[in-house]
Amino acid sequence: MSGPIKPYGGRLVNRVTDDEALTGETKVLPTIQITPRILADLYMVAVGALSPLEGFMDSATYESVLETMKLTNGLPWSIPVVLPATQQEVAEFHVGDRVALIAPDGTLAAKLDVTEIFEPDFAHEALSVYGTEDAAHPGVAALQTFGPKYVAGSIHYVYANDISGFPADNLTPAETRVRFDEAKWGTVVAFQTRNPIHRAHEYLHKCALEMVEGLLIHPLVGETKPDDLPADIRMESYRTILDLYYPKDRVLLSVLPAAMRYAGPREAIFHAIIRRNYGCTHFIVGRDHAGVGDYYGSYDAQEIFDEIDADLLGIVPLKFEHAFWCTRTGQMASNKTSPSTPEERVFLSGSEVREMLSRGERPPVEFTRPEVADILMKMY
Ligand code: ADX
Repeated sequence: MSGPIKPYGGRLVNRVTDDEALTGETKVLPTIQITPRILADLYMVAVGALSPLEGFMDSATYESVLETMKLTNGLPWSIPVVLPATQQEVAEFHVGDRVALIAPDGTLAAKLDVTEIFEPDFAHEALSVYGTEDAAHPGVAALQTFGPKYVAGSIHYVYANDISGFPADNLTPAETRVRFDEAKWGTVVAFQTRNPIHRAHEYLHKCALEMVEGLLIHPLVGETKPDDLPADIRMESYRTILDLYYPKDRVLLSVLPAAMRYAGPREAIFHAIIRRNYGCTHFIVGRDHAGVGDYYGSYDAQEIFDEIDADLLGIVPLKFEHAFWCTRTGQMASNKTSPSTPEERVFLSGSEVREMLSRGERPPVEFTRPEVADILMKMY
């Protein structure tokens, strides 16, 4: 490959504006009130994390994504990016109008030029994206709060406030690209996570770093389900471990302010596309990526990459098997590297660790480094 990886669709979208014609005159415009989840999508469109999208999807794009996992121009795309609005809100405007999107804090987030107002099929969306209509699935539950209408159109982002909670660590795609360029990393692997760092994560990072030049640790800090650990605890665990156990010149920590969908395989593709826009050439996909409960098979999120055109996707998935602590070899391992018996393998899931913590028990060193255990114990 020569030069940095191109943004998805060829050009990094930038819909952030300080044009006074767009930042003023809110009072005379019809409004749509948006939630933190939609504000996160809005921000990601604005800074180009969702390039080539320039706004919220119309019905043709939405249907195409649900049915074929492609945008209407044929580019692979797995998750709808849509703007829900109420019946009362859409009664106030028409196609061709400009509307104001109001952030949860009551200030103006963006203006949107309306190209379509349509009625989505929520059951179809739930089945296509999440593989279930079960309201116990957190992605389906979020969907049930949407609408009943979707509004399509391109955006002009004017929101003045930080949306991430970590303004100093929230690099835009343009900014991470500059960092990679300065570091002279020709290849960069991205790591998506919504959990505190544990040994399996570290094992994946270190294996990947043997193959590529740089690592972007990119924790998702937008909306997660209530029993996931808060982002500040996760960031503290990352900062502590990076400082002690990672080569400083080969790792960048920056947040992704997106909301978590828990869409498993479809979200893995979405996560990969986003990281390509941030300038990454490779993307780690381990066991049950973006999964929840037992809605998806352990490797569904890896197998879905075989269904889409790898050349169009452009970013290369690095697939890892379920990693565990192996008592025979005294190190992290997987089926691919260890001859151990089941009794010699220490598997711990995030939910098991949360249960241990809530009982006041310290997570074992086979699962997490002591410095992270200290942070987690302090929190509980
Ligand atoms: S996720 O929802 O962001 O996928 P998590 O933070 O737990 O959740 O995982 C981050 C990445 O590490 C994902 O690619 C996931 O598949 C991978 N991963 C987590 N634990 C393991 C493990 N024990 N073995 C292999 N891969 C893992």
